Amino acid sequence: MKSEFFEKYPQLDPAKMPAHIAIIMDGNGRWAKKRLFNRVLGHEQGVKVVVDTVRACHDMGISVLTLYAFSTENWQRPQLEVTALMFLLKKFLKSQLPDMMENHIRLNAIGEIERLPDDVRNLLYDTMKITENHREMLLNLALSYGGRTEIVRMAQQIARKAQNGEIRPEDITEETVANHLYTQGMPDPDMIIRTSGEMRISNFLLWQMAYSEIFITPTLWPDFSTDELVNIVIDYQHRERRFGKV
Ligand code: IPE
Ligand code: IPE
Ligand code: MG
Repeated sequence: MKSEFFEKYPQLDPAKMPAHIAIIMDGNGRWAKKRLFNRVLGHEQGVKVVVDTVRACHDMGISVLTLYAFSTENWQRPQLEVTALMFLLKKFLKSQLPDMMENHIRLNAIGEIERLPDDVRNLLYDTMKITENHREMLLNLALSYGGRTEIVRMAQQIARKAQNGEIRPEDITEETVANHLYTQGMPDPDMIIRTSGEMRISNFLLWQMAYSEIFITPTLWPDFSTDELVNIVIDYQHRERRFGKV
């Protein structure tokens, strides 16, 4: 948490910060299309916004930032676009390492990491290893991530344990389920932000978002700014979270 950040945004209450923010970064393609650019240029611009967002969340004292960067369904995009996204991911990981070291940011990935190309996966694992002791913020990249795939994987793991006699079906609790998801050990997201105005979840964090506050902005991801992020967090600080109670 940086005091300069809170001096710049006096309406932001440091005592009511969310622990975990998750973002569906959508609208890169439309941003490019509006300018008659190739979609890849939209993704390139989107990476710049990722860099700013990571820095802002770190300075705000957010513990976990989860970014939906590539879904299980996104594999069905044209090969050229998938390749470009993988290239940009590698470039991002390399260029962000100094920031992650300086700001003690730990990198983690959730999703079917085994499906990523070898070079991307290796760089990802290396970066995770180098940053594993960092404690200021966890940057969680959802890559080849799908909420349903995650739930299937959890069911398979628990079923295997039941079959081996490690766990009895009647002892399976919500905590057991949570501990077999990619997000084990992380708090559930307090906020889910989706850019580009689409009113859907697109297979993101299905179990984890049970009580998340949802914010949808029409802004396309490449136009998303720290000012807008802060305004959304201020909005969050004024919401009443009831968790089913009165
Ligand atoms: C989000 O932007 C980035 C990824 C899904 C990788 P899109 O590429 O989905 O942009 P739109 O929705 O086509 O505008
Ligand atoms: C969701 O965006 C996935 C990511 C942001 C990575 P999509 O653009 O893939 O979602 P849909 O197709 O609009 O539901
Ligand atoms: Mg989209």
